[in-house]
Amino acid sequence: MRFYAVDGLQPGMVLGQSVYGFRGNLLLVKGKMLDDGFIKRISELGFPGVHVDESGFEEINPPEIIDSSLRAGTHLLMSACLDALQKFTPAILEFDGSVEKSLEAHPELRKALPLSALKEKATQIVDDLLDSYATELPCLLLKAQSHYQEQHAIDTVTISVLLGINFRLIRKELQQLALAALLHDSGKALLAQPGEPNIKPDHPKYKDHPILSGLLVMNSSGSNYTECAIIQQHHERQDGTGFPYRLKGDGKSPSVSRGYQSGNIYRLAEILTVADAYDVLTSGAYRAAMSPESTIRDLIKRCYTEFNPHVVKMLARVIQIFPVGSQVKVTRSSLKKIEGCRGIVSVANSENPHRVRIIKTHDSEGNMTLPEVVSLTGDAEARLELII
Ligand SMILES: [Fe+2]
Ligand SMILES: [Fe+2]
Repeated sequence: MRFYAVDGLQPGMVLGQSVYGFRGNLLLVKGKMLDDGFIKRISELGFPGVHVDESGFEEINPPEIIDSSLRAGTHLLMSACLDALQKFTPAILEFDGSVEKSLEAHPELRKALPLSALKEKATQIVDDLLDSYATELPCLLLKAQSHYQEQHAIDTVTISVLLGINFRLIRKELQQLALAALLHDSGKALLAQPGEPNIKPDHPKYKDHPILSGLLVMNSSGSNYTECAIIQQHHERQDGTGFPYRLKGDGKSPSVSRGYQSGNIYRLAEILTVADAYDVLTSGAYRAAMSPESTIRDLIKRCYTEFNPHVVKMLARVIQIFPVGSQVKVTRSSLKKIEGCRGIVSVANSENPHRVRIIKTHDSEGNMTLPEVVSLTGDAEARLELII
């Protein structure tokens, strides 16, 4: 199958993967033939595109990292939580005092988050990833801007837990990390005006959101001190230039178990920080989306000053920069006639990411060609560029 952006969809194309709505409902079943009405609906719902069956592209089968119905159910729950929190926005924004005091003034917020249902979803995602023995992130996480916050929350959980699994965290720690990742930006909903899905760093109270998010979790029933600490520290930086507490990193790997040390960033927060930054940069939340490869390069440059180097190194191992289904351009190859051609990755390569197998779609002049399998697996010179 092949991914088509919404504006490339044509009536008569056949859906390669089922499409779930943001309410968890099955919208279009795999095998359905698209017509103008369905294409319009996919566009209106804010999907960036869909996978379509196409002859010549049968071997492209992008795996789903977490079950689509679990993803849709988590999305639905997060939407309801964010909507409920947004009702308090005017009161929180008008309050002239500290964020802690603004929450104290609204004891109803203690019950605003259905924490046991959220914990259940976070645990299901952890178990899904543990059961699938997933150690790599094979899919591009495309986001519809209209539901950015929910998708950012779920994708940050996925990346954080994958990193945590690779650091051999125990299941309880993975569950704490997953819940913290799911709710790390929930406080933004208390600061966002209606119709403003994602508050930006220039918002006057932006720097309050980690504290707000943490307190929402802390104030809900159950003992959630660890989750609260992870959430409140997700914008701290290694050199102490982050916020809100200006904590510092100790440069150790998060796999080394150690207790809280005052003045230092908690080790699980260092995982969430990197997962969050990666997802923000690749999804284009604040500026143009970056490719996974250039994002990892950017994060490597910011190691030691901003991010824990052990976590960034692990991310570079976990993320497949040219996953199955991604569109690529061959910028260099020992086969000169392939240089400049475009295609879709059908077999990824975690050892040597540029040495993949592709189905060629365009020649070096940019003209469409009949699908043709091109293997770069043995080509030591092969270099690819992701087409976003
Ligand atoms: Fe944040
Ligand atoms: Fe975030």
